[in-house]
Amino acid sequence: MSILYDAKTSIFHLSGTGFSYCLKISPEGQLLNLYWGARLPQADLSYLLQSFEGGASFDMEEYRMPIESVSRGSGFFGAPLVQAVNGQGDDLTQLRYVSHEILSGKPALAGLPAVYTESDGEAQTLIIKMRDALTGLTANLQYTVMEGYDVLTRSMVLKNEGQGDLLLTGTQSANVPMYGDDYELIHLHGGWARERSVQRVPVGKASIRVQSLRGASSHEQNPFVALVKPDTTEFAGEAWAMNLVYSGSFQAGTDVNNRALTRLFIGLNPETNRWLLASGDTFTTPEAVLVYSNQGLNAMSRKYHALYRSRLCRGKWRDAPRPVLINNWEGTYFDFNEEKILEIARRAKEIEVELFVLDDGWFGKRDQDNCSLGDWVVDRRKLPDGIDGLAKKINEMGLKFGLWFEPEMVSPNSDLYRAHPDWCLHVEGRKRSEARQQLILDLSRKEVQDYIIEAVSAVLRSAPISYVKWDMNRNMTEAFNCTLPAGRKMETQHRYMLGLYRVLEEIVSAFPEVLFESCSGGGGRFDAGLLYYMPQTWTSDDTDPVERLKIQYGTSMAYPPSAMGAHVSASPNHQTGRMTSMRMRGEVAIGGNFGFELDLSKLSPEDLETAKALVREVKAIRQTVQQGTFTRLLSPFEGNCTAWQFMSADREQAVLCAYKRLAEPDAALQRFTLRDLEEEALYRDQESGAVYPGGVLMHAGLPVKFDRGDYQSRVIRFEKVK
Ligand code: DGJ
Repeated sequence: MSILYDAKTSIFHLSGTGFSYCLKISPEGQLLNLYWGARLPQADLSYLLQSFEGGASFDMEEYRMPIESVSRGSGFFGAPLVQAVNGQGDDLTQLRYVSHEILSGKPALAGLPAVYTESDGEAQTLIIKMRDALTGLTANLQYTVMEGYDVLTRSMVLKNEGQGDLLLTGTQSANVPMYGDDYELIHLHGGWARERSVQRVPVGKASIRVQSLRGASSHEQNPFVALVKPDTTEFAGEAWAMNLVYSGSFQAGTDVNNRALTRLFIGLNPETNRWLLASGDTFTTPEAVLVYSNQGLNAMSRKYHALYRSRLCRGKWRDAPRPVLINNWEGTYFDFNEEKILEIARRAKEIEVELFVLDDGWFGKRDQDNCSLGDWVVDRRKLPDGIDGLAKKINEMGLKFGLWFEPEMVSPNSDLYRAHPDWCLHVEGRKRSEARQQLILDLSRKEVQDYIIEAVSAVLRSAPISYVKWDMNRNMTEAFNCTLPAGRKMETQHRYMLGLYRVLEEIVSAFPEVLFESCSGGGGRFDAGLLYYMPQTWTSDDTDPVERLKIQYGTSMAYPPSAMGAHVSASPNHQTGRMTSMRMRGEVAIGGNFGFELDLSKLSPEDLETAKALVREVKAIRQTVQQGTFTRLLSPFEGNCTAWQFMSADREQAVLCAYKRLAEPDAALQRFTLRDLEEEALYRDQESGAVYPGGVLMHAGLPVKFDRGDYQSRVIRFEKVK
């Protein structure tokens, strides 16, 4: 049993294979958090509260004590789990315990993406009902232990059981008070083409906010945060992590009080979400996935990877090998016609690529990025036989066909906008701010959702399309639904996300054979919310392999390699101008869902040969990359060399990926040590034929020789000797 309740002590003990999370109901009905950390034996942990008791009369219990369901106004001064303005105009909420139940399995969250189970035996859920006596607001705090995955998921269902309206001005999905004030915070910061760079900052006594107000999880911050101890490394030490299963504006952070209590929280961004909760209404917060590790950051990431790969991603492509693709974007941009596309596809087939993806520019009159979004009708000037004709010709070559869409957007210069100028997010009488010369369709409106579902579905029905790239290329401004009453306008951003999730659910269920990849100007919406609908995401528009080392390394903190699109593009690289070899580009892209994004007709015969060899190498290891265990060995944020490793699920294959940024004259060969091999088993290096015991590779290491020159890579595949 992973959830136990001791009625004598009023303590709930939730435990996975490696963690415990303990709650206690105080005599006054407050819900207290006693502990989150390494797995504990059953015990009465009430004595731990002594750490926080006593103190000057300035600070009340709400401030000093580790209260789980915090709200403001009665002594707590940080970011609250719940904040609601009532009919009297104050925002006091005093939630007290009412009841609880423990269920097998995991209830779904209405309209929201969430981790799921395949049978009730995989999880247990604790629902604690709290109530504010004066307003009748109730909060069902939902905790699910996925024991096999060693994670805890949390969300909250608020219900207005009172008579008057309530305005929710702040809700979080998790807010955990923890003992101590010597933590550091890891978060993933970035920008376009620089996504998810690993930041580690001392928390000390500070309140830190990591957030997006952009209406997307964003390039700038990711809804992932982890508290760690100063001595935590990739392989040792403690980490307490939270990741939000949500794709819109969020807020995460820390609040530290002056008596050694640090809170870590995550949830919707209260600045952009206000919700009118009328009498009888319910509101469900997105899910937070909590992971604890006392074996460093790699162990933390592995728990997220395993969970997301098999209990967040869904459908046929969850477990199927992902196709090696070629995408024409950086090869042609908008300048293509059928002949050019068929030429790229023909060459791609020669190097054994499996899927051709036609990117932006196939519809309306889109010769530049200034028009036609919303008009999902093929441009016959470029493709005289339509999408169907092109797809069939590509299929005849032996390649599958995929297509790009940006369904959430509308160009002011489009038939759709001319017909429905009010369908975009806007405020009457104010400027509609454009970015990339486009506006955002208001997906909080049902008619707009229905339009998108039908427009995309019509194209998918019309041709043999096996893959969809779902792009989204700007953030929200004037983010208001013009049909909502004034009191509900601030609900727009969250209603938009609920609308987007409905659209995606309808489309992915109607086309279960199609592989969907999400994208947002590269990795501007790389989050667990979208992975529920689309099992892979375009990681970044930056395809420079040197940059990609950092981007893929940072992304792997929370997301598995099977979620990351990774392509080989041209050299010099279009984003940075850096020149790198085909091998380096390929051996970085090998660490995700591999593809090409260049004009193959411009490659030298040697590069084409290398490209073909790379495709074969990808196929030999993709099962391991996509379904195996990933380990970060050396960080690109620290030294000249970067390394990571993949280990197949059956532990028969290990792949060492090693990279060297700058050449060093007359330098000793650096040794790379592998992880998780069997000490006594023998492993054969498939290239050199040399055989080593696992223990030797793990402890003594392998000297790796790189070619001369900057930006070098080696991918070394080991097979266990039978
Ligand atoms: C942004 C994406 O990240 C690119 O890969 C490409 O699809 C362009 N949009 C097309 O407009």
